[in-house]
Amino acid sequence: MGTRTRHIGLSLGADICWPICYEALFKKLDLKLDINGETVDFEVERVAIEPFDLRQPVKYDVVIDRLTHWYHTSREWIKKAILSDDLYVFNNPWSLQSMEKHTSYCAMMRLGFPVPDTWLIPPKSYEDRPDLEPTLQKYAKLFDLGEIGDNMGYPLFMKPYDGGAWVGVTAIHDRDKLRDAYEQSGTRVMHLQEGVQPFDVFVRCVGLGPQWRFVNYDPGAPLHDRYRMDRDYLSPQDEATLSQMTMVINAFFGWDFNSCEALRSNGVWRPIDFANACPDSQVTSLHYHFPWLIKANLRWSIFCAATDRSMHKNLSWQQFFDIADQDKPFADKLEDYAALAMKHFDAERFEEFCATHLSHLDEVAHEFFGSDVVLDAIRQKVESLYPAHEIDQFTELFWDRIQLWRAESAA
Ligand SMILES: Nc1ncnc2c1ncn2[C@@H]1O[C@H](COP(=O)(O)OP(=O)(O)O)[C@@H](O)[C@H]1O
Ligand SMILES: [Mg+2]
Repeated sequence: MGTRTRHIGLSLGADICWPICYEALFKKLDLKLDINGETVDFEVERVAIEPFDLRQPVKYDVVIDRLTHWYHTSREWIKKAILSDDLYVFNNPWSLQSMEKHTSYCAMMRLGFPVPDTWLIPPKSYEDRPDLEPTLQKYAKLFDLGEIGDNMGYPLFMKPYDGGAWVGVTAIHDRDKLRDAYEQSGTRVMHLQEGVQPFDVFVRCVGLGPQWRFVNYDPGAPLHDRYRMDRDYLSPQDEATLSQMTMVINAFFGWDFNSCEALRSNGVWRPIDFANACPDSQVTSLHYHFPWLIKANLRWSIFCAATDRSMHKNLSWQQFFDIADQDKPFADKLEDYAALAMKHFDAERFEEFCATHLSHLDEVAHEFFGSDVVLDAIRQKVESLYPAHEIDQFTELFWDRIQLWRAESAA
């Protein structure tokens, strides 16, 4: 029986903790898979940044990328590798580059998701350019921002149409605040969005391939407490709706790894932010949920590499729109969209693969997350973020939360 080595590359930026754990746990799994009569083993390596010939081959089969959303050299290397060498990468760089928040709102509105009412407004000011004056003189209509705000009703949120990381997000309760926020928005193109209020639960649903995890999210808490550790706070119906929404959004945009934020208001899940295709993966935010992420990442990347999963280079939106155009309730459409999404992610084959080849993962991970390698990874991450006098305290806090996860998952 021949042996074939599959190469997995990690394209990293400031990441510290998750690659250490991913690599170490990968090694512990000691995989030699029998795939169609061939032995498949793996090598994991961190991708270097260097000049490249557009015709040079790439050694990787799968790349997990954390740089594309801001580091152009890596993005362009990845694009080349997908086009020329059939690299499988998550996430799809084109999808990440061009599908901002605005696109995600429009698309999910078209599918009938209860996205809050949202307006886009032209920017307050502009970078000067030769055609600006005649264009605005001729075509820009004067508008009354206060009237738009009054018609939408307060509270509303002003936020950049392509935003992320809470930059430039303002909660607005009246006309004056709306004007102030617009004055300060400068050249950025902004959305005004109906504030979802009141809401009783805020969930961040992290999706990785056909896998998901619900995190009860507390936006008002300090960073280390935003991802709450509650379990069993969602009904099976809530879980079905949230997981389906997440899988549909991710399949629609070709994002293998993304997190979707939704607020439950009067019993309805209102998605507000679902273009987060480079989700926080740090132990300092995820803590209790961190082992889930490492395991999910291992399962999905190993599956993609071992089975030569081919990348969906082009998106196919029409099949979703065909469902959207049918005359039936949103809940039924969501089921149908979700079936497409699960097909996109090859969910059945993935589960079968994990059962056959990765059945020891839970046990190996359970032991691993109690080891010094993990403790040291946490410490390194904490050292990079916290002042010296808080390092011991926070290292211990995050370690304890992971030990809680171990105790609970063992039970
Ligand atoms: N429509 C809304 N209703 C209620 N809260 C909102 C709304 N939009 C944004 N927020 C609040 O503002 C925060 C940041 O906005 P969000 O849309 O998530 O942007 P970002 O991409 O910067 O995270 C959210 O986590 C939430 O607390
Ligand atoms: Mg957000």
